[in-house]
Amino acid sequence: MKALIKEIQMCGASNSSKRKRCKQEVLPEGKMLRMLGEHPNLPFLFGVVTQRAPCALVMQFHGTGEESITLHKVVKERIFNKQLTAEVFTEIAQALRHIHAREIVHNDLKANNVIIQQQGEHYRSIIIDFGKSEEIVKLKAYKRSADYLAPEVMEGKKQSPASDIFSFRKMLQLSVSRRSFFRLFTEIIVIVTSHHAKDRPSANDIVSTLNSEG
Ligand SMILES: Nc1ncnc2c1ncn2[C@@H]1O[C@H](COP(=O)(O)OP(=O)(O)OP(=O)(O)O)[C@@H](O)[C@H]1O
Ligand SMILES: [Mg+2]
Repeated sequence: MKALIKEIQMCGASNSSKRKRCKQEVLPEGKMLRMLGEHPNLPFLFGVVTQRAPCALVMQFHGTGEESITLHKVVKERIFNKQLTAEVFTEIAQALRHIHAREIVHNDLKANNVIIQQQGEHYRSIIIDFGKSEEIVKLKAYKRSADYLAPEVMEGKKQSPASDIFSFRKMLQLSVSRRSFFRLFTEIIVIVTSHHAKDRPSANDIVSTLNSEG
């Protein structure tokens, strides 16, 4: 089993403050991955290095050969047909359901933070990058802006599972826009895009809808 080492760059400041800052970055992401436990669509964590430089997360390498492919690349190259798109997004929604069931919000869901690992005929989706994730009870409101973020997050309100759902829609929309099978997914895109967080479906509802499409 191959490993991926996600190192935290240490630059500027003194050694002890660098080490402190580095721990502050690596430990929370490691904690999130430990809290999430094993799931076929999440990265498998071997361990966290904090005692010597560089601080790092050591995870299973989810790729083919030396290369890992993000959903962003897959979408750009239009590799997937309708069936594979439905399968990949069902797995992403299943991972999201697991994350939310553990009372955690991913908080940075985008096509660059999903890896697609080819396994024979099957493509496995892995949600990565838990650097902005947080336990729901510990979430603090702060303003951010990016086109994949929910309106309430851009307004500076607290994130929630529903804000991850909004970001999920952005990835789905990107994957099916200008494709012949776009219409199949429009119903999901419309309900998931609801401006009001409380009107958005849960990850579990999305899994059920995608399964009934297949
Ligand atoms: N477990 C993994 N297996 C294979 N490749 C991975 C894995 N984790 C991360 N990668 C690769 O490394 C890239 C960066 O990972 P990640 O998003 O976790 O880091 P980051 O420092 O937060 O980067 P960014 O700021 O670009 O989001 C990913 O886009 C992916 O290509
Ligand atoms: Mg990332």
